[in-house]
Amino acid sequence: MTQLITKAIVPAAGLGTRLLPATKSQPKEMLPVGRKPILQHVVEELQAAALRQILIITGRRKRVIEDHFDADPQLVAALKQAGNEAMLADLDYIEGRSRFFYTRQSTPKGLGHAVSLGADFVDSDDCVVALGDSLIAAQEPASLLRAMMKAHRQLKAAAIVAVEKVPLEEAFRYGIVSINGAEPPPGEPVVMTDIVEKPPWGTAPTTLAVAARYVFSPAIFEALDRTLPDKRGEIQLTDAIRLLIHKGEPVYAWLLPPGQRRYDVGNFESYFRAFIDFALADERYGYLVRKYIKAKAYEL
Ligand code: G1P
Repeated sequence: MTQLITKAIVPAAGLGTRLLPATKSQPKEMLPVGRKPILQHVVEELQAAALRQILIITGRRKRVIEDHFDADPQLVAALKQAGNEAMLADLDYIEGRSRFFYTRQSTPKGLGHAVSLGADFVDSDDCVVALGDSLIAAQEPASLLRAMMKAHRQLKAAAIVAVEKVPLEEAFRYGIVSINGAEPPPGEPVVMTDIVEKPPWGTAPTTLAVAARYVFSPAIFEALDRTLPDKRGEIQLTDAIRLLIHKGEPVYAWLLPPGQRRYDVGNFESYFRAFIDFALADERYGYLVRKYIKAKAYEL
């Protein structure tokens, strides 16, 4: 059995153009979903999965990300003086649970290129990749990565990729995965036979879409080095995974089980959906939101 995985790469360098003007001067990963920025949800999921070293790939105009995960002694002192225990507890995510590392992707050369910037950080270890604009909602969000990492160790996999079923007409927005047989059993590794990034409308081989969480062996970095840019000049992570498959490396898909769901904030529609669902599930304010939405529904 190989070593426990402790490192995660979080790409958060995307320009967020589909969310303008909200993302004019703030990163989309810092938009709130419920009471927390999206990226904090992601980091807390990683911390709960015992990932202690987190490399966030940022870019221009993303400096607030570093501030958010850094201590603020003045703020803490003020909250202590005011006796505001609840708010102090809300800042708990900063304290010592993981070390944060940052690097910048200075040119938008694609998700694969962003991940490749983590090669030296990961070195010869296995690692997790968690997209900074996508949330996993579940009773216990970290249970997905925990299970994927365990399977990765047992199988000595080159990659395990979380997937979810999407409507056929939305398949062109995602990385789409092929397996042997029609329907993979949820919550277990299934051999992946192919993967294609954003297949043109009507050509998707399946409706199994890559769902923003991956576990990799260091073989991914060598594959990324060999990956050619796509038509838009971007290096796709999907294409590197495809190279691994073609090389005969063990690559698996992992269908999210019932009760686990991915949300992305790539556009306003998905962002609003995520916000509403997380606000409804909020342990402090959820009941008020529910009350409001029920009343509001009568007016619609
Ligand atoms: C990225 C990946 C894609 C994946 C999607 C959601 O696309 O390239 O394979 O399905 O995230 O996890 P993006 O949303 O950045 O265009």
